[in-house]
Amino acid sequence: MGSFSKSAGAFAAARRYLAGGVNSPVRSFQSIGGAPLFIRRGQGAYLYDLDGHKYLDFCLSWGVHILGHNHPALNRAVRRALADGASFGAPTERETELAARIAQAVPAIEKIRFVSSGTEAAMSAVKLARAYTGRRKIIMLDGGYHGHAEYTDILRVPFNDRPALEKIFARHKNKIAALILEPVPANMGVVLPEPGYLQFAREITRENQSLLIFDEVITGFRLACGGAQSWSGIKPDLTCLGKIIGGGLPAAAYGGRKEIMNLLAPQGSVYQAGTLSGNPLAMAAGIAALTELSRPGIYKLLQQNADYFFAELKKILPDSIQLNHTGSMFTLFFTRHKVRDYASAQTSATKRFARFYRRLLGQGIYFAPAQFEANFISLKHSRKNLDRALEVIGECLL
Ligand SMILES: Cc1ncc(COP(=O)(O)O)c(C=O)c1O
Repeated sequence: MGSFSKSAGAFAAARRYLAGGVNSPVRSFQSIGGAPLFIRRGQGAYLYDLDGHKYLDFCLSWGVHILGHNHPALNRAVRRALADGASFGAPTERETELAARIAQAVPAIEKIRFVSSGTEAAMSAVKLARAYTGRRKIIMLDGGYHGHAEYTDILRVPFNDRPALEKIFARHKNKIAALILEPVPANMGVVLPEPGYLQFAREITRENQSLLIFDEVITGFRLACGGAQSWSGIKPDLTCLGKIIGGGLPAAAYGGRKEIMNLLAPQGSVYQAGTLSGNPLAMAAGIAALTELSRPGIYKLLQQNADYFFAELKKILPDSIQLNHTGSMFTLFFTRHKVRDYASAQTSATKRFARFYRRLLGQGIYFAPAQFEANFISLKHSRKNLDRALEVIGECLL
């Protein structure tokens, strides 16, 4: 691959004004080494950087672009909305339309509130859970991520550990407002819930009159239209969504049981608001994205390609690398240990990952630029693309 001088120059210029040179830390390539790529455009399964290199993209704006980059139907919808103005700070019909589509796809969502980021969705769901239960404490899982809000009264337990949940509920009886978790954690890399774990989380929260919050910012409309909850059959009290529902524009949401959501102002006393919440452009992009995803056979097609990729990938991986995957998301961990929680994820040799990553990049494959993240396959990743990725991964592991 040729020079990266334009990206390096752009990063140097960015560092002059932007804190750390980026607007979100993981973009900086800090754990990989070197300057981040500056992106000029995306098209389908590909990203193009400032220096003219082309990459097969498995990061997809951190899981947003299940339809691939620069999708014409989404672009048309946004252009149409923009012709009427970018923001009004007043209700529009598109908000109701997207809300109805989400409620249809995710039965646990009876009422919804749009916000602008996954961080806002999770922190607002937590605030609401506290108000509803009249309790303060929140359980999160080691390695779970629910945005960058500064949470207080947090208790942490390892994922996939039922006794740890039992113990913490017993120790803090009548004090726990909610358990919030990613039903398939993706922020320690992809880790799968063991059989019965999510069911257990549902039962123990119910027994303790605590709420169960599924943070499906990544898994929502990724694993299925109904997210991980439709796939696991578990109905949470509240659900957080983001990424895919905004089609690449800033939209996120939280929703759930009516009696809880009705506590939000103006109906109730829990104040949560946003100048750009339900932004018309983001709603238009979201509606277009969910329209595309509701076409018959879409998830089946994605799954067939993903299954093919994972089956072939397993054939070339040595025992010292673990592949965790579900649906169209995956992580490679550089460890001999099975990865089932944060502690086992941490056994991954991150320096080896960084070397592997730089080799991949040199051959035109763009993974999420950090070990403890998820990679994604889009509907634009063809078998030919996946075969090329398999070939390069095989070479980069040598
Ligand atoms: C599960 C989960 N929750 C919340 C967030 C925060 O979302 P945002 O980056 O839109 O604030 C993320 C971001 O990746 C996430 O993966």
